[in-house]
Amino acid sequence: MAPTSPRFSSEEVTVVFFLGGPGSGKGTQSANLVKDYGFVHLSAGDLLRAEQLREGSQYGAMIKSYITEGKISPSTSFPTRCATRSTPTPAPGTKARFLIDGFPRKLDQAVFFEQTVCPSELVLFLDCPEDVMEARLLKRGETSGRDDDNAESIRKRFRTFVETSMPVVDDFEAKGKVVKVQATGSVEDVYAEVKKGIEERGVHAR
Ligand code: ADP
Ligand code: C5P
Ligand code: MG
Repeated sequence: MAPTSPRFSSEEVTVVFFLGGPGSGKGTQSANLVKDYGFVHLSAGDLLRAEQLREGSQYGAMIKSYITEGKISPSTSFPTRCATRSTPTPAPGTKARFLIDGFPRKLDQAVFFEQTVCPSELVLFLDCPEDVMEARLLKRGETSGRDDDNAESIRKRFRTFVETSMPVVDDFEAKGKVVKVQATGSVEDVYAEVKKGIEERGVHAR
């Protein structure tokens, strides 16, 4: 296969991957980061759910099955294409920032993205024990309407996270790219630690 080079360089755009187990608080903290740091937020899960619900989607049934079973779709499939399709439009004099939430969840997704779109600047990782995540997800399930916020899907998602997604975090950790934050405190406390972690890596509010 011909060697590929990423479409954007780290000089042109800043990409932060936002990882953590299901229910660790990625979506919640993303809203804060968008407000204070000017990130464009892309959630792979949100994109998948939107496609699942889109009338006439040929992927709807397949996505529902992946989501209910807590399985990660392959690198060539929909979430990767969504994440790779967006075109950054930075304001003059500023560098566009992308916060990619819940992606990459599999090593092949990480390799594919960094080879074809842009190398990541850092990986923000929310570290949270399963009992805390489970309680949050069951509570969220009272109102979320999500197909996967139930005890059985949660168990499957935890397993996928440990077996498939933690190796991605470990791989980035070995490259010195991970900012790890304990996610058990209040939303405000976690955000304070998130801010501290990314500021130490040179990402400042704008
Ligand atoms: P993720 O995107 O990582 O799956 P969410 O941000 O959707 O997680 O959070 C999961 C649930 O937990 C949501 O209902 C959210 O309101 C709640 N939540 C998020 N962060 C905290 C926190 N620090 N303390 C308590 N509940 C939280
Ligand atoms: O991040 P979120 O919890 O919203 O993801 C929901 C589901 O979407 C995952 O459990 C998985 O089935 C699917 N997904 C995926 N690939 C990703 C992100 C999410 O297949 N990169
Ligand atoms: Mg989320």
